[in-house]
Amino acid sequence: MDLLKTMLQRRSARSFLKKIVEKSVMESILNYAANAPSAINMQPWEVHIVSGEETPRLSRKLLKRFKEKQIACGPGATQKIPDKFIDRARLAAQGMTPLIEEMGTDFKTFVNTGSLKFYGAPTVAFVFIDDSFPPERLTDVGAFLGYFVLSAESHGLATCPIGLVKAYEDEIKDALNVPDSKTLVISVAIGYPDVNAPINHFRSERASLEEFVRWIGD
Ligand SMILES: Cc1cc2nc3c(=O)[nH]c(=O)nc-3n(C[C@H](O)[C@H](O)[C@H](O)COP(=O)(O)O)c2cc1C
Repeated sequence: MDLLKTMLQRRSARSFLKKIVEKSVMESILNYAANAPSAINMQPWEVHIVSGEETPRLSRKLLKRFKEKQIACGPGATQKIPDKFIDRARLAAQGMTPLIEEMGTDFKTFVNTGSLKFYGAPTVAFVFIDDSFPPERLTDVGAFLGYFVLSAESHGLATCPIGLVKAYEDEIKDALNVPDSKTLVISVAIGYPDVNAPINHFRSERASLEEFVRWIGD
């Protein structure tokens, strides 16, 4: 598929079919994603792929902890975020709410428990970075994430990055047997989208260039 078309087409899916993602397909997606740029080509990302029965098993553990901890989806900010960014988040939530209600649930329940269920995706990629790297190298992992979701889309799959897992990092490391010397950056739910699910018809909007670009020079 044409890359620019893929970039416009990709949106996060929040309902997946049970259909498994073949290992060869995952390998191909990862091989393309591995072409992401990174500082002095260190490729600091480390990916753990969870699939099959392991996905719902992990999900059950996370949902149990969610009931105890009650840490929900949010920007994870330590200071007040400027209104224009909050307005964008609000717009997305408002766009999703009627579709979620059509599915018989409310926004918060759907997003929080849905995220920890990986929205029913059969496969989840957990992306870690070694603690020896400084925070600047998260840029590299972000580039990998961008390549990964576009690669998946080009392979006919859908994705949803799930940042809520950060709040449950200890449980995830424990379940996946990942050493303490690694930091979880993000997870990505991946699978075939349920095209009949109302929520998958939601398309988030984007700010225009005037809102985020400043031109200096001719
Ligand atoms: C770092 C990151 C963390 C995210 N965490 C979550 C999450 O925990 N739950 C969720 O439903 N979506 C999550 N998302 C998906 C965003 O909500 C989504 O990318 C955004 O609303 C733009 O929509 P689009 O991906 O459909 O273009 C996350 C995305 C990113 C990049």
